[in-house]
Amino acid sequence: MSAQNHRRILVTSALPYANGPLHLGHLLEHIQTDIWVRYQRSRGHECHYVCADDTHGTAIMLKAEQQQQSPKQLIDAVKLEHSNDFNDFLISHDNYYSTHSEENRYFSEQIYLKLQEKNLIAERSITQAFDPEKKLFLADRYIKGHCPKCKAADQYGDNCEVCGATYAATDLIDPFSTISGAQPIDKQSVHYFFKLPEFKDFLAQWLNNEKLQPAVANKLREWLIAGLQEWDISRDAPYFGFEIPNAPNKFFYVWLDAPIGYMASFKNYCQRSELNFDEFWDKHQAEKADTELFHFIGKDIINFHGLFWPAMLDACQLRLPSAIYAHGFLMVNGEKMSKSRGTFIMARSYLEHFKPEYLRYFFASKLSNGIDDIDLNLEDFVQKVNSDLVGKLVNIASRCAGFISKRFDNQLAKQLPSPELHEALLAESAAIAEAYEQREFAKAMRIIMSLADRINQYVDEQQPWVIAKQDGKDSELQGICSQAICGFAILIIYLKPVLPEVANNAEQFLNASLNWTDLNNSLCGKKINSFKPLLKRIETTQIEKMLLSNTEIKASVMTPKQQSIELASHPKEISFEEFAKIDLRVALITRAEHVEGADKLLKLTLDLGGQTKTVFSGIKSAYQPSDLEGKLTVMVANLRPRKMRFGISEGMVLAAGSDDNEIYLLEPGEGAQPGMPIK
Ligand code: 2FM
Ligand code: ZN
Repeated sequence: MSAQNHRRILVTSALPYANGPLHLGHLLEHIQTDIWVRYQRSRGHECHYVCADDTHGTAIMLKAEQQQQSPKQLIDAVKLEHSNDFNDFLISHDNYYSTHSEENRYFSEQIYLKLQEKNLIAERSITQAFDPEKKLFLADRYIKGHCPKCKAADQYGDNCEVCGATYAATDLIDPFSTISGAQPIDKQSVHYFFKLPEFKDFLAQWLNNEKLQPAVANKLREWLIAGLQEWDISRDAPYFGFEIPNAPNKFFYVWLDAPIGYMASFKNYCQRSELNFDEFWDKHQAEKADTELFHFIGKDIINFHGLFWPAMLDACQLRLPSAIYAHGFLMVNGEKMSKSRGTFIMARSYLEHFKPEYLRYFFASKLSNGIDDIDLNLEDFVQKVNSDLVGKLVNIASRCAGFISKRFDNQLAKQLPSPELHEALLAESAAIAEAYEQREFAKAMRIIMSLADRINQYVDEQQPWVIAKQDGKDSELQGICSQAICGFAILIIYLKPVLPEVANNAEQFLNASLNWTDLNNSLCGKKINSFKPLLKRIETTQIEKMLLSNTEIKASVMTPKQQSIELASHPKEISFEEFAKIDLRVALITRAEHVEGADKLLKLTLDLGGQTKTVFSGIKSAYQPSDLEGKLTVMVANLRPRKMRFGISEGMVLAAGSDDNEIYLLEPGEGAQPGMPIK
């Protein structure tokens, strides 16, 4: 379809699970989708973008129980948090809904009943591991035991992390339920299966869809060749989800109703807009209305979207996706995001330290239409946004706007001195558009930044700051600055899908709307407003602060056990030089006090052999202040002072232990003196 036609498009991002906060991995996907959506809208197309929280399943049920609330309370709270995070990242969903909705129940039931009517649901009894105490069937990830091959302890029900063996949970030696600790027993129950193998030919044909990415089509082809299995779509009670019609105590598996959540969210949106639902979802009407449907997903969930989902849709006379756009995983500093290293960065931690557009731009500058992983190297991040956004883009306006406002009463020149330069900027519009369309955002960013270089080079050559000092050169000065500002407007149009807020502020500044459709509207002779800085440089220290606050958030979402397991499984090596930077000293606790309003902290006054330091330490649960006074301990003496809620902490005392009830302050052996370095 050509970019000129008016398109009617529905776009989705994968539905985040409602069992925890969003992290930057979620944002990679939503930013990718949002840029594409905003680009389509900017071209004047009709582009609807819906999403929802994925709210069902055992994990959410258990988490709610752990937090002593109902699943509904948990998912409502998480939805609010997710929506706020997405809003603050400028993600322009038209509807952010929930799979726990009446619309979703309705469609899930209808689809299931249709499959049943077409004899596409099989019913048979299967044997599974069951927790006799908790009265719950156990998925593999809730069973641990000794590996049947290498005998390593504490291995999960499907594979051994020590020797790499894969096995059935029933093969584990001394298995136990990670929920209750009880030994699982085998138990039978009736399950319902979707007869996927009947769609072999249909799927073989569907994966020839020329819009699928080659890597996605290949993956699907591999599965087809390996042979399709019937898909178990039911779970036994207790389960947080929708009960299956005419099957008491049986629930739809979360992955059955999750993609249907796309339809439900759109239906909910149609109810408050003038849209016709069937034109986007009914097979025949969608064909007639020529609507399109795109799912943006991570490469780990291609099977659900590329096999089960199209088969279900086809069986129900529903429209098929026009394409599935898969992306790679997000890495941080070249490695998988790690909670123990603090690089499992939560959306909120980022937002507390940086504007969303820095990350939007950084991701754009890395994204292609492939499924390779994307690396967020944090140093690179600082360097790139400073150099491209501040040093190249914003710089154009900030170097020239002052002259226009001070010397020309904010009036741009009637004509540009170098129409060729302006034409050259416009000439790239087709290549940039094509790159956006193809999700080759990195390519689009490269072209746009090369245009920024050209404008800056023009300003460098023309030297308006020199001309400004020469008599009788007013019109030349106005021309040069107007040329740069008109060029800046074009760059903003090109970047608007990535930098929507910067673009809004630039529209204010230029008194003009800056959509793709405005590319040929000249600003010559127009009056603009005074320039306010659009983006500031960022500092590496902000990264450190973000990682630190992220560590604090991380602690609240991971159990101490998880933290220590993760730490033990990824011990990060440091060099001797790095270690030598830590100044460890013997410290005498001269005073220990409760801190009003702090649940975990004690305020310690430490004597380092003459020098006194104040440290807030989270050891309150293990020590009475009076037990500590007069004790020797070990402290990190050269930790940069940190401002905490209760005051400034000037170091850290060392303690062993993996949770709040298990804290052992380190003590040096007898004879050590305050201030002695630890060697
Ligand atoms: O993998 C996930 O995070 C799932 N919650 C995605 C669901 S996408 C869609 F199918 F609903
Ligand atoms: Zn093993």
